[in-house]
Amino acid sequence: MKPFTIWFTGISGSGKSTLSKRVYLEIKCRGLKAELLDGDIIRTNFSQELGFTKRDRDINVKRIGFLSWLLNKHGIISVVAAIAPYEETRNLNRLLIPNYIEVFCNCPVEIAEKRDPKGLYARARRGEIPNFTGISDPYEPPKSPEIVVYTAKETIEESFNRIIEYLVNQKLIPNKIKQKIVPEELEKEERILREYLKNLGFARKGW
Ligand code: ADX
Repeated sequence: MKPFTIWFTGISGSGKSTLSKRVYLEIKCRGLKAELLDGDIIRTNFSQELGFTKRDRDINVKRIGFLSWLLNKHGIISVVAAIAPYEETRNLNRLLIPNYIEVFCNCPVEIAEKRDPKGLYARARRGEIPNFTGISDPYEPPKSPEIVVYTAKETIEESFNRIIEYLVNQKLIPNKIKQKIVPEELEKEERILREYLKNLGFARKGW
């Protein structure tokens, strides 16, 4: 099976983190090596110096693209959740990465704003966060993503199932669960790793 990068793009609160995590765990349960690169975590550990101007976002998105390319080169699947608001920059990654799959988490700003899981929309409305995607900064919807999930209409389960179906159809992941790993067990393992990192002073935010 060939390694690939699956990139969840969309505004804050559109479901990127939730879906990417589910897909990541499922890929591992099917016996494949994968890494999850979440925007918040990457920003904490790789891109601390970057903000949210176009220039900084482009650097961040290209950095994640390059990291995914490196992982893929060594046979590891990369699962990315990052806004990546600019079409041109996303397309650079598409050119770089041999098997690039874009999942557009399509969700109207009004719905994402109602969800506001991190309270960021409220802060952005109060003018406390400049350049906030969807409020005071652009998001260019992908023109031809491989998959579109409508996270305001579909359940997480429906979106998740469609993504897995696509990956199976493209022969990127096996049809059946290979090892009997319970997602909860995997999550527990990862939690222990994160604790270890936290104690060393890494990965505080977003984990
Ligand atoms: S990207 O534009 O460079 O791809 P990325 O996905 O890494 O963005 O980071 C987005 C996360 O940073 C959001 O989920 C949110 O938690 C946080 N954030 C802080 N400030 C902003 C902002 N101005 N716009 C969007 N997200 C922000």
